[in-house]
Amino acid sequence: MRVLGIESSCDETAAAVVDERGLVSSDVVSSQIETHAPYGGVVPELASRAHLESVWHVISQAVAEAGGLDTIDAIAVTQGPGLVGALLVGLSTGKALAFARGLPLVGVDHLVGHLFAPFLQRGDEPTPVPELPFVALLASGGHTALYEVHAHDRITMLGQTRDDAAGEAFDKGAKILGLGYPGGPMVDRLASTGDPTRSDLPRPMLRKGSLEFSFSGLKTAIARHVELHGVPEGQALSDLCAAYQAAIVEVLAQKSLEACKVTGIPRLVLAGGVAANKGLRARTRELGEKCGVSVFVPPIASCTDNAAMIAYVGALSLASGRRDDASLAPYSRGAGVKRGKVVEKR
Ligand code: KG4
Ligand code: ZN
Repeated sequence: MRVLGIESSCDETAAAVVDERGLVSSDVVSSQIETHAPYGGVVPELASRAHLESVWHVISQAVAEAGGLDTIDAIAVTQGPGLVGALLVGLSTGKALAFARGLPLVGVDHLVGHLFAPFLQRGDEPTPVPELPFVALLASGGHTALYEVHAHDRITMLGQTRDDAAGEAFDKGAKILGLGYPGGPMVDRLASTGDPTRSDLPRPMLRKGSLEFSFSGLKTAIARHVELHGVPEGQALSDLCAAYQAAIVEVLAQKSLEACKVTGIPRLVLAGGVAANKGLRARTRELGEKCGVSVFVPPIASCTDNAAMIAYVGALSLASGRRDDASLAPYSRGAGVKRGKVVEKR
């Protein structure tokens, strides 16, 4: 079963062809970073327009690279959560294609896509995949939560952020430091040459037992630091980035390992854009080794938004009998949780 996946939930238009074993035949991503950069964040109306402009090109390229439309057996499309205007572009295109070709259509939850990204096989060599069940930390621009994952349709949320997402904390902190958008990769790069011990920033919610996060105080702490001392330059800027990153990473890593302890599951998956962070990868691996937890970190192309993860979860859903029709509707934040009963609060 070869599935064409379409993703348009935020600021990336993406299409990919993947089979039910996770084998990626094509994976095309068109980023809108340049469109939104002048505004320091995603502008929903501009995102919808940009999706509309690029969706056919992206799909045509993904299909051509995978061997043509005749080789596609089904269509999977991101249904939510995300910006509704942006989601509608992918959904309408997916419906039109499915109708025109007489192919089955299935809606996929973007977050479930992220959680199953480690199963994607991108190279010639097989990538080791986690055994189910596993614990997953999903940290992106819009979400930060811990999950217990048994199957694509059996996922329990263990805890989530009370305010900002981890990626949002990276982006907002970077904005305060004048580093541009999106800030996560920039902070990551500067932090690699900085000394994290030169500033003392809080480690929010790091008390034992809680699997919830809170990052808004950290953003306030860096804003206060800049108010008092001004925006640092050169080595001092790298040092502050290192301290800021270390504060976010320490909370994410310790709580992820705590979730493994609480559930008794010795496997941890890092997912979402923030999983691309070098500091987070290194620290979770280090803590994982100490407590006998295997840490799975997908390659960066699988961490950030892509359609391969959507196609793969689509293949799993189709294999378990799900089919959607032309009434398939988008959902913004959270609605998908209730709607698909994909993610249940424990
Ligand atoms: O999963 P994603 O591509 O899109 C969403 O669904 O949100 O995540 C984007 C987020 C942004 O906040 C970006 O700054 C962050 O992931 N990010 C990083 C890194 N690469 C991307 N944060 C920290 N370090 C990175 N290397
Ligand atoms: Zn995402």
